[in-house]
Amino acid sequence: MNLTINSDRLLSELYHLARLTDCPQTQDKSLPEPTEAVTRIVFTPRDLEARAWLTALAEAAGFTVRTDAVGNTFLRWQGTDASLGAVGTGSHTDAIPHAGMYDGTVGVLGGLEAMRALKESGFTPKRSIETLMFTSEEPTRFGIGCIGSRLLGGVIDADEADKLLDRLPETDPNAPVGLTLASVREAAGFSGSLVSVKLTPGYYDAWVELHIEQGPLLEREGIQLGIVTGIAAPASFRYTVEGFGGHAGALLMPYRRDALCAAAEMILSVEKHALAANAKSGGVDTVATVGMVGVHPGAVNSVPSRVTLTLDIRDTDVARRDGVMAAFHADIAAIEQRRNVKIREETINADAPAKSSEHIVDTLEAICKAEGASYKKMVSRAYHDSSFMATVAPIAMIFIPCRNGVSHRPDEYSTPESITLGTRVLALALAKLANE
Ligand code: GLV
Ligand code: MN
Ligand code: MN
Repeated sequence: MNLTINSDRLLSELYHLARLTDCPQTQDKSLPEPTEAVTRIVFTPRDLEARAWLTALAEAAGFTVRTDAVGNTFLRWQGTDASLGAVGTGSHTDAIPHAGMYDGTVGVLGGLEAMRALKESGFTPKRSIETLMFTSEEPTRFGIGCIGSRLLGGVIDADEADKLLDRLPETDPNAPVGLTLASVREAAGFSGSLVSVKLTPGYYDAWVELHIEQGPLLEREGIQLGIVTGIAAPASFRYTVEGFGGHAGALLMPYRRDALCAAAEMILSVEKHALAANAKSGGVDTVATVGMVGVHPGAVNSVPSRVTLTLDIRDTDVARRDGVMAAFHADIAAIEQRRNVKIREETINADAPAKSSEHIVDTLEAICKAEGASYKKMVSRAYHDSSFMATVAPIAMIFIPCRNGVSHRPDEYSTPESITLGTRVLALALAKLANE
C-alpha cells in the first residue's frame, strides 16, 4: 500500500481547531508556538462550531456522519461487508479550561486523516472504519468524564446520566443554575433516549485510539511511540464539609469549627496515604489530587462555614486504591470528631482499570517493527474514552510523546513528526484490522 499521511493538512486542521477556543489568546511570549490556550467546554457554542466544522470535513472527504442522542459523532467509511463489526478509532475535542491543543484532538483529526490517507491510497476496507468524536470526555461541565463512551459501553445508567447537573455556574457566574444534561443536550440539538446510545454487541470488532502520552516517559527515553497495554483505574469523589462560620475578629479560636481548616487536613491526609501506598509498593502508581475547592462564604473577614472539594484518585491496582480510600475515611472520621464538623462524601465514579487486547497490541507492535519505529509497551495513567470502549470491544491505544510530559496546559506540544508517525501507524492498524 502506498500510504501517505498528509501532514500539512492534518497540522493545519489541528491549528484551525485550536483557534475554536473560548480562552483569549495568551500574550505570554515565553510560551513556544502555538500560543493558543484552548477552552472548549462541551455543548457551548464553541463546541458546536467545532462539531459542525468536523462534520463538514468528513463529508467533504466522502464519509457519512451520524450523531447519537448524546452527540457522539461517528464519521464512517463503509466497508464492503456491512454485516461485519466495524473497526473504530477516535477521541474527544472538548478541552478543559486553559488547556492545550493536542489532548484528544490528535486522535479525532488523526483518525480522520488516517481514513482519508487510506482512501487516497486506493485501499478498500472489508469492515467499515469509523472515527468517533466522543461527547464530554472531560468532566468540566457535568462533573464526570467520558459521558459519551460510558453511555456507548452501558457503564452509566441512561436516566442517571440525564440527571447530571450542569456545573458551568461553578466556573462561570453568568451560567444558568439547575440545568441538567437532559436539557443542555436537547438545547444543543441532541434529543432522544440515552438508552439508544448503548452499542449493540459486536458493533466494533476492534478499537484503537491515538492520543498524546500526557506524561514524560517517551520523550525522556527517546522512544517514538507508546503501545498502551492497560489504562489505570480512575475514581472521583465530591466532599462537603459543614462547619460553623462567623466574624473573623469576634469568633474566638477556642470556639471555631472552621470548615476550611478541616478540608486542609483532608487534602494532606489523602496525599499522605497516596505517598504511603507508593512507598509500600516501591512504585509510583497511586496518584491523588484535590483540584477544586469552594469556600463559603469566601470573604477575607469571615470564618469558612462550608467547603466543597473534589478528589481524583487513580491506580493501576483497584485494591490499592481502595486501601488508600479506607485510610482516608478513617482520617475523615477523626477530623469530624476532633473539629466538630460534618463531612459528606459523594462518589462521582469509581471505575475499573482497562486491559488492552493482546491481538491489537501485537498488531501495533508488528507495524512499528515493519515501519522501523521505536516503541514501548506502557500503561496509560490518564483515563480515556478507550477505558469504556474496552467494555464493548477489544481495544488498544497508541501514544505519541509530548514535550516535557506536559498536558492540560496551553504549552502542551507534540512535534509534527510524532503526530504524523502516530497517524501513520494508526492508519496501518485500521487497514490491517479492517481486513481481518
Ligand atoms: C483525562 O482527561 C484525564 O483526566 O485522565
Ligand atoms: Mn484531557
Ligand atoms: Mn484526552
